Amino acid sequence: MQQTYKNITGWFKFEKKFDLILKGFDSGVFVEIGAWFGKGTAYMVQKIKEEKKQIKFYVIDTWKGTEGLPVGEIAKKLGGNVYRVFEENMRACDMLDDIDVISESSIIAYKRFEDESIDLVYVDGDHRYEGTKADLDNFFPKLRKGGVMIIDYYTFEPVKQAVDEFCSEHNDITYEIDGNDWVMYKH
Ligand SMILES: C[S@@+](CC[C@H](N)C(=O)[O-])C[C@H]1O[C@@H](n2cnc3c(N)ncnc32)[C@H](O)[C@@H]1O
Repeated sequence: MQQTYKNITGWFKFEKKFDLILKGFDSGVFVEIGAWFGKGTAYMVQKIKEEKKQIKFYVIDTWKGTEGLPVGEIAKKLGGNVYRVFEENMRACDMLDDIDVISESSIIAYKRFEDESIDLVYVDGDHRYEGTKADLDNFFPKLRKGGVMIIDYYTFEPVKQAVDEFCSEHNDITYEIDGNDWVMYKH
């Protein structure tokens, strides 16, 4: 049986909104922070391929989970690093060649990108306050004008706090809250 995102264990629930946002791009650079076993990666990359979009897709993850959060405990039980599960899932979905993997923390990886070079960044990484704040502050300058940033797990208090502070500091954005997701458009 062909592996698809539906069979991959994970949390991704952004399908409909992603489909709508993707309509606005024929080409570009997308970055996913926090892929875990690749559920979201598999959905987004499959959709990009089906729609024949010329999008370069980067995946940033430590594959170690987050210290102090359940995902960190799961990673520990699975040997400390779950990259092999992600890689196997991507291979089974036949999309290993469609992604650029950056196996390091987003707090370092953002330096690899030029300012205003990214069209979309989907953040489902470190959900602690400092981690969320760092991703917001570090990746915002990397987004092109008209670019989109999505922060997953907005309903989690530390995430909400960092996002709400970011919103109050910026008058160069439009945003909407869609359940668990904060979706921001850069002016
Ligand atoms: C909730 S999981 C992601 C779930 C995934 N998006 C899905 O579709 O199921 C969070 C992921 O973020 C990663 N992570 C946590 N902090 C990170 C950071 N600072 N940089 C990169 N990845 C990080 C963890 O290793 C974990 O794989």
